[in-house]
Amino acid sequence: MEIRFQPGPASSEALILPILQDESQVFIQALKPPISWLKNNYALADFKGRKSENLLLYAPASASPRVLLAGLGRRADFTPRVLGEAMSAAVKTLAERRLTRLALPLAVLRLLPGADAACRLLEEAVLGVGLGIYAYTEHKNMPETDATFRPDLLELIQDRETTAAEKAALRKSTALIEGITLARNLINGPPNLVTPIHLEEQAANLAGKYAFSLTSYGPDELRKKGLNAFLAVSRGAANEPRLLILEHTPPGLGKKPPLVLLGKGITFDSGGISLKPAAGMEHMKRDMAGAGTLLGLFAALGAGGPGFVRKRILAFMPCAENMPSGEAARPGDIIKTLSGKTVEIRNTDAEGRLLLCDCLTLAQEMDTPEVMIDIATLTGACVVALGEKTAGLFSNNQALTDKILALAQGNGERLWPLPIWDEDIDLLREKSAADLLNSGPREGGACLAALFLKQFVRPDMPWAHLDIAGPAYQGQGENAAPGGATAFGLRTLLDFALEQCHD
Ligand code: BES
Ligand code: ZN
Ligand code: MN
Repeated sequence: MEIRFQPGPASSEALILPILQDESQVFIQALKPPISWLKNNYALADFKGRKSENLLLYAPASASPRVLLAGLGRRADFTPRVLGEAMSAAVKTLAERRLTRLALPLAVLRLLPGADAACRLLEEAVLGVGLGIYAYTEHKNMPETDATFRPDLLELIQDRETTAAEKAALRKSTALIEGITLARNLINGPPNLVTPIHLEEQAANLAGKYAFSLTSYGPDELRKKGLNAFLAVSRGAANEPRLLILEHTPPGLGKKPPLVLLGKGITFDSGGISLKPAAGMEHMKRDMAGAGTLLGLFAALGAGGPGFVRKRILAFMPCAENMPSGEAARPGDIIKTLSGKTVEIRNTDAEGRLLLCDCLTLAQEMDTPEVMIDIATLTGACVVALGEKTAGLFSNNQALTDKILALAQGNGERLWPLPIWDEDIDLLREKSAADLLNSGPREGGACLAALFLKQFVRPDMPWAHLDIAGPAYQGQGENAAPGGATAFGLRTLLDFALEQCHD
């Protein structure tokens, strides 16, 4: 879908008009050029502008033959997310009518609360449109139907000169659409197709298209380098593991300390020898959401074009399948991790931390990260603690926590801080012949997983861990994200990267 600024009147098939509850006259008066037939239309008496209320009107004769009134609810309850949701719902209604060219008058955004941050509203509206039409239909044999129809143009109608900030907001939101769509496709993909090698191909595509450098280690290199904890996870699987390292280094930033991101890439988590129960096991295809989200982030970095993110960024994506077999790791095995610390595997289902601990060590050996952030569907305990829509945020650095929380607050991703209690480390040592256990008691499982990871981070290294086991995926869809993969975290990571830009 093409999204572009359009000076002057729309030439589209339908104009989308977001309207706050009981304020329709004000919104319609603000339109430039005015739409005279709307002003005293009886439809405005019927349309209240309640949240998710939609009304499609037909012009007697006009360049834009249709106007879709999209309710936003009350002014007092308005947030930018409400606008995004309304735009997603609107685009669905119009797509059902097979309309290809849509328009949004930007003048109405200036009437909304928070309009001083108008670019935030623009970003949300564009994202709402771009993500509202997302559906994963890859493997459905169906003729093109109304349900799969996609509009191909959104005009943003300007009644004044486009500002640099508006251009930046459009660039960012189109980049996000590209990235989030890729991430969702990968996370929604079935685990027989989305294997570590498939993710390697995706990384290679991005590297080729956008000139990122890609390093990929297979089992031999992983063994040679000593990433034994990582290897222990994939030992039972027929699908080979890959460690993918994508690097975005804009010209002139040579050896600047990078932002290092790490994403868990378990393409299927059966639990291994500590096998999970059958019910719902198919959901464990989502266990590569961390890696999928980082691939999506890199797609966004690339789609934003030169100069979009002036920051060195490295993404470590350990990709493997956790399967039981005669060769699989067992409970009781003791592994020497890359750091030299030994780990006793008590539960082969606590595999994410094993992949990640070796990658944390490797990242600190290969380079001097400025900051490290990992993103992982790490624990069911985090879902129990915070619910399905909220990710846990763990960190060894308060300033980093504050910064990430502020960004997430701004873009609507629900992150909540959880503690790491260093003094609980004995819970990860009890009765073991190794330095550490990979799993402790059930209670506080999300915090113990974070405590485990922290053992592999240098004390002076700012590090944060996002446990996205809940929000990576949603059973029940919303307008801006149908059921399935969400690509949760991608927006916060992009906002973080944008804010950290080297000068
Ligand atoms: N991939 C799971 C965590 C998960 C749970 C992701 C629900 C998405 C939804 C992880 O590898 C896992 O199995 N964790 C165990 C850890 C336990 C064995 C210490 C868990 O949460 O039960
Ligand atoms: Zn897992
Ligand atoms: Mn597991």
